[in-house]
Amino acid sequence: MATVLAIETSCDETAAAVVSETGDGERPWRVRSNTVASQAEIHREWGGVVPELASRQHVRDICGVVERALDDGRAAWSDLDAIAVTQGPGLVGSLLVGVAFAKGLAASLDVPLVPVHHLAGHIESLVVDNGRLPLPAVVLVVSGGHTNLYEVTGEAYPRRDCRLIGRTRDDAAGEAFDKVAAVRGLPYPGGPVIDRVARSGDDAAVDFPVARMTHADRSASPAAAPAGIAAERRARRMEFSFSGLKTAVKRHVEARRAARGDGVLPDGEVADICASFQRAVVRALLDRVFAAARACGARSIGIAGGVSANSRLRADAAARADAAGLPLALPTLALATDNAAMIGAAGLRLLRAGVTAPLDLNARASLDL
Ligand code: KG4
Ligand code: ZN
Repeated sequence: MATVLAIETSCDETAAAVVSETGDGERPWRVRSNTVASQAEIHREWGGVVPELASRQHVRDICGVVERALDDGRAAWSDLDAIAVTQGPGLVGSLLVGVAFAKGLAASLDVPLVPVHHLAGHIESLVVDNGRLPLPAVVLVVSGGHTNLYEVTGEAYPRRDCRLIGRTRDDAAGEAFDKVAAVRGLPYPGGPVIDRVARSGDDAAVDFPVARMTHADRSASPAAAPAGIAAERRARRMEFSFSGLKTAVKRHVEARRAARGDGVLPDGEVADICASFQRAVVRALLDRVFAAARACGARSIGIAGGVSANSRLRADAAARADAAGLPLALPTLALATDNAAMIGAAGLRLLRAGVTAPLDLNARASLDL
């Protein structure tokens, strides 16, 4: 049974993990360690991730994080059959630190290097925590950088058997959480804070708009345009848009501040705005996920990525999956946000399929799945 050391540095977490195959097709991966050094404190001061600071901090942290992952996983260098690393997409300066480190390890240990797509890692996090997904599955990857909907039809994903069926036309859902929090003066990253503040709010207090797509995406590449009218309608139903909602929240906050002489909103009203915003995002996400599941005849639904940590999204998704009679896969909170365990599991799937990279592998800021 193969064991990999995985490295993930695509954004602002330096992460390493040791993951082994189990030999059990239903629950194929065992996470032996999962170490994350978060840089959130460093970037909070600036209201978002500063790429240059992120790459420098990865350089400082990576040796310690890798050593810790090996220690926690009780693994020796000689136990490793391969090194898996996130090749992209992400911040290129951040990715480069992980890729260079992984290449150095693979060369010195004389083991294969496995290049992993960050979103393939998020999809695999569902399998780590829930076991094999009943296929076909409709999987939403919802993070700070992406809001992508996939149809997964077979076990050879992500290289085959995996089709992008919807994505955001503008902001990612996590980005909307982060930007709305910034408007409210709440600290970065905004998702967890809004989630917490919204708990005491009234989600029906403000009627924020849920975007519906009525026009074809004029900026989409012609190659991606679906052929028939029915196909185009279907495609539009699966697209997301969050920039209008973000602007609506901004306008609402500005108007309410102006209406109150002191410009300060009471905590109760902030909670109401957060709850109403969160309800609108969750509804926009889940309407499309369940429409896609119906259109694809899905046998299960998965939701992964940082925003899948959202308590409202988890609760509403569970209720709707229950009503639809479909099993729902969510990652545990530790595997929802960026981590290397998911990269290790995806790396093992690729390794088993014979996918390895030469030592001139390069990091890629944008990379198709
Ligand atoms: O997957 P991830 O860790 O990094 C990327 O690949 O982007 O996702 C980070 C995103 C951030 O936008 C963060 O605000 C959001 O996930 N997030 C949440 C929650 N926890 C993290 N959004 C809503 N509710 C949460 N509880
Ligand atoms: Zn991510």
